[in-house]
Amino acid sequence: MRLSDCHNVEDLRQLARRRLPWPVFDYIDGAADDEATKARNTAAFDDVDLVPNVLAGVAQIDTGCTIMGRHSALPLILSPTALQRVFHWQGERAVARAAERFGLWFGISSLATVSIEEIAALVSAPKMFQLYVHKDAGLNASMIARCKAAEFDALALTVDTIVSGKRERCQRSGFTTPPRFTPSAVWSYATRPRWTLDYVLREKFRLPNLDTHVSEGTGKAVSIAEYFNTMLDTAMDWDTAARIRQDWGGTFCLKGVMSAADARRAVEIGADAIMVSNHGGRQLDGSRAPFDQLAEIVDAVGGEIEIICDGGIRRGTHVLKALATGASAASGGRLYLYISTPLPPRGSRGSSAR
Ligand code: LAC
Repeated sequence: MRLSDCHNVEDLRQLARRRLPWPVFDYIDGAADDEATKARNTAAFDDVDLVPNVLAGVAQIDTGCTIMGRHSALPLILSPTALQRVFHWQGERAVARAAERFGLWFGISSLATVSIEEIAALVSAPKMFQLYVHKDAGLNASMIARCKAAEFDALALTVDTIVSGKRERCQRSGFTTPPRFTPSAVWSYATRPRWTLDYVLREKFRLPNLDTHVSEGTGKAVSIAEYFNTMLDTAMDWDTAARIRQDWGGTFCLKGVMSAADARRAVEIGADAIMVSNHGGRQLDGSRAPFDQLAEIVDAVGGEIEIICDGGIRRGTHVLKALATGASAASGGRLYLYISTPLPPRGSRGSSAR
């Protein structure tokens, strides 16, 4: 199976399953508990139907829109996701370049494997930084100051990750950051020599936005659950969010809002956008799907704040359904992570660029 055999996101997922060692694939693909919320995030789109109006004269089509003050060629954001170097050695650099080429918004995580400064120097595409509030206040201040200096377009404060979801696939595989070759997975690494050689021989795995302050995740291997449960600030509340909004001073988004009441509070603290999101079902299994919750949130705060429907998007029609329900844009993480192969250089016909 090659990239050219892939016709939809599910095909890309199957390709990723073959190419990636299973602990890595299961880290991307997995979610919390029974993964019911993850499944519902996509299934929710099947419960509504589209009723097209015809004869609209669509010779000129422009899918462009403005999201958080910047032009985007599509109403679709590549959501920030962590540890991208693990999925492909070019990691965030490849995603940033793809966003630049197609004129899209993208994001990097606090747990990115490329620095804030390098990403800013690499592309001018609109970009957000996904902030995880740590117990270490100096680290939070450092990340915000670095994003300001690098002129990131928006800060997305993660509000759904106070502690880690119970990700059973990660518990089974022993996935850590940086990845370790555990005995149960050695065979899987050995049978994916491309990935393994890239991981071992290319530049060293780092979390350069964090390793100025903490060694966990870079020098010291920990599971994502351990990282979240020991490093993040469980006292974070609305005052923290309002303070961060003020310290940052730029375009501000809350990522992980699910209730209409919280959407109202986001408006009250002066947020510019919310990402209606349950973190891809990776946190609270049993949480409602973003699309199921969208109409209620649009009723409550539509027109007062930008509403981004994040999660479960696998098709263009899912984006269309989100927009038709009142979202300003849609966004997703797995949908691009599954590609796990950067675009071939412009003009090349190759099916995979290494
Ligand atoms: C995750 C975090 C790191 O879901 O975003 O794994």
